[in-house]
Amino acid sequence: NEDVYVLGIETSCDETAAAVVKNGREVLSNVVASQMESHRRFGGVVPEIASRHHVEQITLVIEEAMQQAGVSFASLDAVAVTAGPGLVGALLVGVNAAKALAFAHGLPLIGVHHIAGHIYANQLVAEMKFPLLALVVSGGHTELVFMKEHGNFAVIGETRDDAAGEAYDKVARALGLPYPGGPHIDRLAHEGEPVIDLPRAWLEEGSYDFSFSGLKSAVLNALHNAKQRGEEIDPRQMAASFQASVVDVLVTKTVQAAKEYRVRQVLLAGGVAANRGLRAALQDKMKELPDVELVIPPLSLCTDNAAMIAVAGTVLYQQGKRADLALNANPSLPL
Ligand code: KG4
Ligand code: ZN
Repeated sequence: NEDVYVLGIETSCDETAAAVVKNGREVLSNVVASQMESHRRFGGVVPEIASRHHVEQITLVIEEAMQQAGVSFASLDAVAVTAGPGLVGALLVGVNAAKALAFAHGLPLIGVHHIAGHIYANQLVAEMKFPLLALVVSGGHTELVFMKEHGNFAVIGETRDDAAGEAYDKVARALGLPYPGGPHIDRLAHEGEPVIDLPRAWLEEGSYDFSFSGLKSAVLNALHNAKQRGEEIDPRQMAASFQASVVDVLVTKTVQAAKEYRVRQVLLAGGVAANRGLRAALQDKMKELPDVELVIPPLSLCTDNAAMIAVAGTVLYQQGKRADLALNANPSLPL
């Protein structure tokens, strides 16, 4: 039984990341170079700027990850890279770097789906027990994923418009908060009370889909109308009310699905999993399912990173899945 060392590379959005993970369990290094500062003044990620930063950073970040891990390229078993979804120009930088390394060192190349990565971050915290349900909430995704075994993903619900993190960022912008706004709303929400009546998009009976654009519009309208009347809305109360609406829908649907699909585990994944209100509400509601384990990774594994890509890559490697050197970036890669 040989140890398996996988180098993970992630460049799908605005973080240039590389990590080495041993046996899909042990993080030997996890380097993330964030471009947040470069995008902040634009109020969002600018794809062209993201690509250029990735090109600048990728080699340094990979070298640092290898150095911190203390392993040589020759002792790696595979190179895993995010092949999609994401910004195509950003993805291409990681895919090309991974191909070059795989080619130069004669290593197997593994293409990883970004969301599979977010879900597999949980394996660094707990052993995955199937069947399981994962709530993936990030700036680009809001999905409920049912897994009956490793590598088997069924999307049972997804957003029909904005992703949860996207809604957070847009509402934050309307409140004059810096990008990315999620953490700021989270902080304000804890200083306020959810006294403003905002809609909750439950959609059709039994649907596990989400919708956050109506809620976002309701917030923008309320702010606009107040301004017209010369009134002031307390941003803490708006943040608390918005967060209550988002969290209520996410938690209710997740626990409902966990019951219907009789899962053994519920996993939280993606950048919005950092939200304190969401974590607390999910922990509380899961008391209705005492036999189901709730796993929530630490913050550093919730936001974009390459350790999660290395873990998902290790599982694929162990299943014998390989990409060839024609691997391409696919901005709308299906899970
Ligand atoms: O997973 P991630 O790092 O990147 C994507 O793949 O999108 O997620 C970033 C998103 C942003 O929208 C950010 O505002 C949101 O996660 N986020 C939060 C919190 N921390 C990050 N949203 C709500 N509360 C937070 N504490
Ligand atoms: Zn992500």
